[in-house]
Amino acid sequence: MRCLVVNIGQLLTMAGPDTPRRGKEMASVHPILDGAVLVEDGRIAACGFKDIVLNDSRARGSRIIDAGGRVVSPGFVDSHSHPVFAAPRLSDFESRLQGKTYEEIAAAGGGILSSVQKTRGATQAALTAGLQARAARFIEAGTTTLEAKSGYGLDLDTELKMLRSIATVGSAGPLELVPTLLAAHAVPPEYKGKKDDYLKLVCGEIIPKAAAEGLAKFVDVFCEEGYFSVEDAEKVLAAGAKAGLKAKVHAEQITLSGGTKLAARLNAVSADHLEMCEEADILALAASGTVATLLPGSNYFLSKPYPRARRFIDLGAAVALATDFNPGSCPCWDMRMILSIACTQMKMSPAEAWVAATVNGAHALGLGATHGTLQNGKTADLVCWDAVDFREIPYYFGGSGVSWVMKAGAIAYSRETLKL
Ligand code: NIG
Ligand code: FE
Repeated sequence: MRCLVVNIGQLLTMAGPDTPRRGKEMASVHPILDGAVLVEDGRIAACGFKDIVLNDSRARGSRIIDAGGRVVSPGFVDSHSHPVFAAPRLSDFESRLQGKTYEEIAAAGGGILSSVQKTRGATQAALTAGLQARAARFIEAGTTTLEAKSGYGLDLDTELKMLRSIATVGSAGPLELVPTLLAAHAVPPEYKGKKDDYLKLVCGEIIPKAAAEGLAKFVDVFCEEGYFSVEDAEKVLAAGAKAGLKAKVHAEQITLSGGTKLAARLNAVSADHLEMCEEADILALAASGTVATLLPGSNYFLSKPYPRARRFIDLGAAVALATDFNPGSCPCWDMRMILSIACTQMKMSPAEAWVAATVNGAHALGLGATHGTLQNGKTADLVCWDAVDFREIPYYFGGSGVSWVMKAGAIAYSRETLKL
């Protein structure tokens, strides 16, 4: 099937080399005024100035979608989320409002382990239904590709159950899901005081089985005081590498624990959170191929200091933005809100925020060659915004402002009756 999107007031192609953008490369997005996009068989066939695209012989006879002079961009690539869980953590939320910290709540039996208990008790069907419902919210908010972690199972069966839910919802579409195994999210209660035994289970059984079933693309670890040390994390990532899973690391979220330097040394695909990074960590990331993924929704929700986005960009790290959607530290699926926080609280420019949420997000998932920009041959993941200037997206907040979303060439969501 072929379709032609015309009358695009500002077309953000994000076109450029297939490498993560860093430093000044993040500063401009060069919107094309009066652009058009030709889509064929789920991919971009031509994209750019209207006159050139309309002259393409394949444009003739295509179904026309009129963007009404508005902004069209790539769909957001949200490269960090924990969207499979059985219940929100509303009492953790209330406790925090009364002054308890994330760490205190975890120590008192809330936190990650309370989600583990509920996720273990949930059926595969219930987890899948919950994820399916959330996937629709992501699509409506303009996200077309989402990384999805396990990590509320912490035993073989429940980790695989979570990953199978991700596989089921991802293959049903339209939201594309990229699965990550996060069995090393916390030490489960039955292994309390026996972390090394749990690590043996993770490295010797859970990682090889998840990889052998093709249920995960990445392996992740929560490298943090009270969770997993750098030494532990290195074991987990090595077991992942042996099984063919590329590395991601939850690093320097609460304390300076060394995860960022480890991620850079191992050339992990991304290091995520990074609030507590010191200068040497930022320089290590800037000198590596590892994407620095910032998750400012979690800082907002936990009332914690934001990572120093400006320092990362100015020192040459490739910065991505993602939601970290999860029931404990960031119950927000809307990347537009994340862009708003990034600009207002971390002083990223609108252009930098856009780069971070699309092209660099794709690189944080190893998908830079196919996702994150609108260029010939790439997947046709497009969002039409109810906006005439791309800066309106981080400027207005409190609503998604999405008019319609196309995933792999098919309309996945529309707030309006499209004139086809
Ligand atoms: O990325 N830091 C660890 N994991 C999540 C939080 C998970 C939870 O609280 O359930 C995060 O913030
Ligand atoms: Fe996370």
